[in-house]
Amino acid sequence: MTREEQIIRQWVLSGRPVPPPNELKQRVVKAYGTAYALRTLIETGTYMGTMIWATKDHFGKIISVELGQQLYEQAKAAFSPYPHISLVHGDSGKDDIIRFHRK
Ligand SMILES: C[S@@+](CC[C@H](N)C(=O)[O-])C[C@H]1O[C@@H](n2cnc3c(N)ncnc32)[C@H](O)[C@@H]1O
Repeated sequence: MTREEQIIRQWVLSGRPVPPPNELKQRVVKAYGTAYALRTLIETGTYMGTMIWATKDHFGKIISVELGQQLYEQAKAAFSPYPHISLVHGDSGKDDIIRFHRK
């Protein structure tokens, strides 16, 4: 059993408390990507880039929007080697940010 499977199993055995673990959220995102042949993942709230690290080999393009300046700069530096990953600094509630980066 992988570490991911252990964490999800422990969460199930604990009565599925909210919120679910990151490992489950990442598994669901990857499964939807595969099931619907999705090529692009758009994430609101980059934080430490955990979702991006987990899904970077599953999507042809990833756009992640982060409100916090420092968090954005950290992620921008961390993912600079990956041309298919775009970090956006701003409020994801403002749809012009996403539209601009989808071109
Ligand atoms: C729970 S964390 C995100 C975790 C991340 N998606 C992951 O899977 O590891 C929430 C993040 O959303 C950012 N945030 C909150 N409101 C936002 C907004 N309106 N636009 C963009 N980012 C926002 C916060 O600064 C924080 O870094």
